[in-house]
Amino acid sequence: FNLNVQFYLAAYLLGGIPFGLILAKVFAGVNITEAGSQSIGATNVLRVVKETNPSLAKKLGAATLALDALKGIIVVLAAKYFELSDSAQWLVAVLAVVGHCFSPYMWFEGGKGVATGMGVMAVMLPVPTVIALVVWAVAAKTIRISSLSSMLGLAALVVSSFILYPAMFHAPVLFIAFILFYKHIPNFVRLVKGEEKRVA
Ligand code: G3P
Repeated sequence: FNLNVQFYLAAYLLGGIPFGLILAKVFAGVNITEAGSQSIGATNVLRVVKETNPSLAKKLGAATLALDALKGIIVVLAAKYFELSDSAQWLVAVLAVVGHCFSPYMWFEGGKGVATGMGVMAVMLPVPTVIALVVWAVAAKTIRISSLSSMLGLAALVVSSFILYPAMFHAPVLFIAFILFYKHIPNFVRLVKGEEKRVA
């Protein structure tokens, strides 16, 4: 029995914890999957809670972002600490994102993977992650649409990692990018229709 399997399972089970859903329910009494974009991410927590309590919304949004990123960071750091092979580390990273996006605690529904993806990438590919974060922050400040900013950051991550890293890194990056892209299809539909909501 390969020890790595325990890491894969832990990555999926930890990645699947829907912090946004839990925080919004516990601290604001709302079911985030039935409000706003129905997403469990920080953006939607901020958007929905803001309607009733703006200062709480900021705290819960920030906590959701931090915890969703942290679960990705922790599992990949653990994989590194226990010296799993590079490919096993990548599988742990991918499974944390898969867990978030197809959560075992939500009948395999879940989030859009931006924060958790950012967390795993921050450890695996720090320089492309910084580039992606800069693009994301500039986009978020100017266009104020979370999904589009996330997708521009994601594009920057893919392009910069392809330029800066050897080919063995490309497949897992593309796989994670594909999941995030796939999960944002409803956002693209709303963007095309001009119905995508801005944040804050
Ligand atoms: O991180 C998710 C973000 O890109 C979009 O969230 O709630 O606007 O669909 P939302």
